[in-house]
Amino acid sequence: MIILGINSAYHESSAALIVDGKLACFIEEERINRFKHGKPAQIDNPHVLPEGAIEGCLAFAGLKVSDIDCFAYSFSQSGRLQNIGVDEHLTPGMWGTREGEMVFHQNLQRVPDELAKIVGSYRHDRLVWIDHHLAHAASAFYCSPFADALVMVIDGIGEFDSISVYRGRENSLEKVFSLPYPHSLGFLWEKFCTYLGFSEHDACKLMGLSSYGNPEVLADRFRQVAWLDSETLFKVDNNVTRFRSADMSGLEALFGPARHRDQAISVEHRNLAAALQQFTEKVLLQLCQKMQALGPFDHLCLAGGTALNCVANAMMQQHGGFKEIYIQPAANDAGSAIGAALQVWCGVLGNQRQFVMNHALWGPEYSDAQIEEAIAQTMFAAEKVADPAAIAAALINEGKIVGWFQGRMETGPRALGNRSLLADPRRKDMRDILNRKIKHREDFRPFAPSVLAEAAEDWFEIPQRSLAGGFMLYAYPARPGKAEQIPAVVHVDKTSRIQTVDRAVNPRYHKLISEFARLSQVPMVLNTSFNDSEPIVMTPADAISTFARTGIDALFLGNYLIKRSENA
Ligand SMILES: [Fe+2]
Repeated sequence: MIILGINSAYHESSAALIVDGKLACFIEEERINRFKHGKPAQIDNPHVLPEGAIEGCLAFAGLKVSDIDCFAYSFSQSGRLQNIGVDEHLTPGMWGTREGEMVFHQNLQRVPDELAKIVGSYRHDRLVWIDHHLAHAASAFYCSPFADALVMVIDGIGEFDSISVYRGRENSLEKVFSLPYPHSLGFLWEKFCTYLGFSEHDACKLMGLSSYGNPEVLADRFRQVAWLDSETLFKVDNNVTRFRSADMSGLEALFGPARHRDQAISVEHRNLAAALQQFTEKVLLQLCQKMQALGPFDHLCLAGGTALNCVANAMMQQHGGFKEIYIQPAANDAGSAIGAALQVWCGVLGNQRQFVMNHALWGPEYSDAQIEEAIAQTMFAAEKVADPAAIAAALINEGKIVGWFQGRMETGPRALGNRSLLADPRRKDMRDILNRKIKHREDFRPFAPSVLAEAAEDWFEIPQRSLAGGFMLYAYPARPGKAEQIPAVVHVDKTSRIQTVDRAVNPRYHKLISEFARLSQVPMVLNTSFNDSEPIVMTPADAISTFARTGIDALFLGNYLIKRSENA
């Protein structure tokens, strides 16, 4: 049976193909249309489907649209109408207003017809609408190795709830807790992102910034924005936050003028980011404790954008009371396409689970012939090499920045060794070099390492093992005496957001790091996503284009090597 999962209601549009209960292919539309997050979350575009991703999944699997038995959409048809009339501070005609929500609702109703434009005519009862948080929960639990687990979904908003907790057992998910809008961790992060001069999608930047601040300095004032509540979990004063308005006056009254994006980052800004991170961790810890009272539970699955907060994830590993935490790499809205399809397979149709996501390589890949063709379209000269991993390791050891494009594209927002830029973690100046030559990121943001799985515990304090250790979703402290050896990949708080690399999961990447370890005695490389302020590259042509525009020293495309020095 073939099920196509689709996410397009808000942003991170994506498609997932499930064949007989197993994920066959997953693609985010942003990788194809080259627009970050695929599209903005707007009332007038939920029906804009990820057409390129749908076609890409089918092409990769060698299937036709007529082969699809069922379509699963990661949003319910009418759930959002509850949002009408709950806010005082609104933008006329937009989210939360009757007019705006009706526009969104009507556009959502266009999804079946828009789908028919892509796949041809189909019986509309073959399209199943799955509640957004249920799709998130399914994306975590049905990809996890657990038969029984607590499943927490934490994002900005689903249809109306901002947090939902489920109990997952075999092939069922039962909701045990929910918290409605406006008490939303995801929206707090979005609002503070824009208040601090970033885009609403820049929670990762704020998390990085939080390590430079003192959370206690603004804790009292922060409590006027949001506070823990023993009965409901936590509350937000939306008269201050005004989530559905661009109005910052509530926050400005407490914390001063909003930062313009060109303005320098002050101590106050850092302290505010730290207060937000600390509050988030307190909420999540209280949620763990509250939910453990219903159990106890050995296993926790996490989904929703907040599950990408690697500092909070590590805190929950340490203090949440679970033996293991699983998070699939596309924990944000993109992964809800996978969850919607798996919910149809397991929950709606009652089939047994067939799948565990133990690696992230579910995107398309390209043959030697396709790579050769892409190179032939350019002026670059390439050579076919016998051992790309060994050559790349030697170049990294010499201080070069290597573009590493191999096999199937990663799932989720982190590059995990198949669409990566790699560099030497021992060089203190590597962060500046990468930012100057390629990445153009803020200098306060850390870079992360890919570490041989068998050596990870020698270098980092890892509180518990997780199947999700390979997805770069936990930040761990470096062991004493180690941080100084790898300054390019240790953050100011002496932690690193590590990816463990198993030989069985990615043998070629494992070999590269092993070769680098042989040369340097350091079993890790700096790994950052293969892009420059754009979506991560997907095709060989994308990779060559980024190579041409930036200061990458050498580009490996499968077995082909293009060197900068020979193509100056
Ligand atoms: Fe979501």
